Amino acid sequence: MAVLITGGAGFIGSHTCLALLQAGFEIVVVDNESNSRKTSLKRIGELTGKRFTYYQVDLLDQAALNGVFSGHSIEAVIHFAGLKGVGESVEQPLRYYDNNLTGTLFLCKIMEKHGVTRMVFSSSAAVYGVQDRLPLTEDLPLNAINPFGRTKLMIEQILRDAHVANPKWAISLLRYFNPIGAHESGQIGEDPNGIPNNLVPYITQVAAGKLTELKVFGNDYHTHDGTGVRDYIHVMDLAEGHVKALEKVLKSPGVETYNLGTGTGYSVLEMVRAFEKVSGRKIPYQVVQRRPGDIAVSYADPSKAKQELGWSAQRGLDQMCKDAWRWQEKNPKGYIDS
Ligand code: WQD
Repeated sequence: MAVLITGGAGFIGSHTCLALLQAGFEIVVVDNESNSRKTSLKRIGELTGKRFTYYQVDLLDQAALNGVFSGHSIEAVIHFAGLKGVGESVEQPLRYYDNNLTGTLFLCKIMEKHGVTRMVFSSSAAVYGVQDRLPLTEDLPLNAINPFGRTKLMIEQILRDAHVANPKWAISLLRYFNPIGAHESGQIGEDPNGIPNNLVPYITQVAAGKLTELKVFGNDYHTHDGTGVRDYIHVMDLAEGHVKALEKVLKSPGVETYNLGTGTGYSVLEMVRAFEKVSGRKIPYQVVQRRPGDIAVSYADPSKAKQELGWSAQRGLDQMCKDAWRWQEKNPKGYIDS
């Protein structure tokens, strides 16, 4: 029996594939390579010495996706595939709704057709939107504030409704905070297309001299140093959380939501200083206007995942920065080099 990983060539997907193989699972990977490179999968095979099947398939291609289920005995799905750019989703909402929602609907229908009703879903802390209560707990009212976050919120509801109609569904909804870092080998990591939208890959490219200076989006927030605070979590901690969530859905039906965060927030300037320390490089920056849609502070209460999944983040900020820097240094142009 195999676990199907949609979007398995991507940043979080590839790290999760590595963790699954190391935990002894058999995996099948599909990815449309719209925001990933299959080089990541080749390197996972080298790192683990394990073999697995990969198909370049878009979830919107129902015939191809059905063929994958017909060709393998799939026991569960970890569903990463989806567009994830917050700013891009504001500019291209219909593309985001079509890709993320339609792709998930096709996946769920084909799963049910093949009797597969166990899923771990890649949701996001973006579903919380603006909250006046911190740390964020899973029971808070949800109000996503951009189309990307709304697609995640809608998919969470689609999956809850699927379970109501068919109680055999076993689903873990994982709300990620800010995934950063890379596997300690430096062989796989975050490889954004073009200029990075997110803070950490931008910082590592400044440290590497690929970009000249960091723009700090506002220093007038109500935080200790005025810059935005986020709950950064090591991508390998996140990957290990997926293995725990998979083990849960393989054991019991029902729908549960889990925050995957560390419970600690760091500001933009604290991240700059942390990278300067591990890289030994100065990170020049300029404070500019706030970025539209940004919230001031976001960090998790991860206690439910600890209690119910036996999972908690193990890697601290220093290791997150060291591992992100190692990936950048070893792969200055990302995967396209290889
Ligand atoms: C972090 C902080 C910025 C870039 C988003 C999505 C979330 C997830 C992760 C998909 C903020 C500041 C950033 C820069 C800056 N995506 N910043 N200069 O916005 O918290 O989360 O990415 O799963 O769903 O919402 O992450 O890294 O973009 O920003 O000052 O060049 O860094 O203002 O305070 P964010 P981020």
